[in-house]
Amino acid sequence: MAETLTITDNRTGKQYDVPIHDGTIKATDLRQIKVTPGEFGMMTYDPAFMNTAACKSRITYIDGDTGILEYRGYPIEQLAEQSDFLETAYLILFGELPTNAQHEEWTRDITQHTMLHTNISKLMEGFQYDAHPMGMFISTVGALSTFYSDAKNIFSVESRRLQTIRLIAKVPTIAAYAYRHSIGRPYNLPDNDLSYAGNFLNMLFRMTEPRYQVNPVLERALDVLFILHADHEQNCSTSTMRNIGSSHADPYSSLAGAAAALYGPLHGGANEAVLRMLTEIGSIQNVPAFIKRVKGGDGRLMGFGHRVYKSYDPRATIIKRIADLVFDVTGKNPLLEIALELERIALVDDYFVSRKLYPNVDFYSGLIYQAMGFPVDMFPVLFAIPRTAGWIAQWEEMLTDPDQKIARPRQIYIGPAKRDYVSRDKRK
Ligand code: ACO
Repeated sequence: MAETLTITDNRTGKQYDVPIHDGTIKATDLRQIKVTPGEFGMMTYDPAFMNTAACKSRITYIDGDTGILEYRGYPIEQLAEQSDFLETAYLILFGELPTNAQHEEWTRDITQHTMLHTNISKLMEGFQYDAHPMGMFISTVGALSTFYSDAKNIFSVESRRLQTIRLIAKVPTIAAYAYRHSIGRPYNLPDNDLSYAGNFLNMLFRMTEPRYQVNPVLERALDVLFILHADHEQNCSTSTMRNIGSSHADPYSSLAGAAAALYGPLHGGANEAVLRMLTEIGSIQNVPAFIKRVKGGDGRLMGFGHRVYKSYDPRATIIKRIADLVFDVTGKNPLLEIALELERIALVDDYFVSRKLYPNVDFYSGLIYQAMGFPVDMFPVLFAIPRTAGWIAQWEEMLTDPDQKIARPRQIYIGPAKRDYVSRDKRK
């Protein structure tokens, strides 16, 4: 028997049987619930989309209660251990792990598109000397749409694939140029003999040496961080990508909007907040007093808690392991001791345990980035590079989903009722 939800409307005494699919009811099925035939019908009120599924997706699965994260069914732990970022991006974008031949072709395609048009570099040179790298990143990605007008052809599979390759290939170059610009150093051209992460490090940090020597530990650490950040289903920036894309804007414009959503401190900026918090605490002796303050409602323990994960964020477990490897190369970040002590206390303290507050992905990532030499301003940019794969995959899934239309939420109007215009000389 088909599953249904029976709703009784106390206003009319009528009963409605609403079909249940995948544990959900269709919001539009509620529209039949009305008191008078001329009415619009019942809607749901759900600010911040706390309980609304806006799409069906085959890309990323999260079980927040048990701390599970899977891309296309593959556990994040296995991908972080055995895959590399480009392979994971392929998986997220195309649904399956690539064969050897597909991996080779994919890597070659990406490698061949890493260069930026000279006019894009010139455009970036025009930014103010102290421009925030994320602001530069967002603007430059948006500007790409003026260079690739073929991207408007969003219903062509070939065009979508070409824009996908361009975007995945060029975001590290844009990110590196934004960084070099912000520190007043010349841009480094991509080195196509290096890996995705290795080339990124080269574009960021090469000085006068003819060939940049990539440290394999840092290269692998960055690649794993990229894998961990590649997608996270319907978060704020991904929903933005889908929303903008639903108006059939080109992928560069949509992705610039998604990156702008990521810029906010509640989304891509939390690891920066963690570093500021650790710096403010200053020493391990001050940790108990800080925890006491947080428990008293004065501030939050940044990097703890998550809207979805109500247990240890699986990405945090992996990041903690990487941190040890990175610190062996770079030397320990002096803030690490404070972070470990905070975690030790919070994990046994009833305030945090009873609210299911555990370290999230951002608790340790900032410490690693800082140890690798990245300034705090670069943190959201480092997030945007791998998330580009997720954004494009979600955009394409939205475009090819027959259930989807232009996104257009409803509202409950609570403003003034109709009133007549009063000329300015008669207003009080
Ligand atoms: N420190 C102290 N208390 C906290 C924290 C925290 N980090 N997070 C939640 N709480 C408390 C709240 O005060 C609330 O307590 P109460 O029931 O006594 O009022 C309870 O836990 C539930 O908190 P909510 O705000 O309702 O949880 P929500 O799911 O809305 O928030 C969020 C999730 C925003 C991530 C929150 O945990 C937070 O602010 N964490 C710190 C910021 C952070 O690390 N953000 C990164 C998230 S990961 C990412 O975006 C990539």
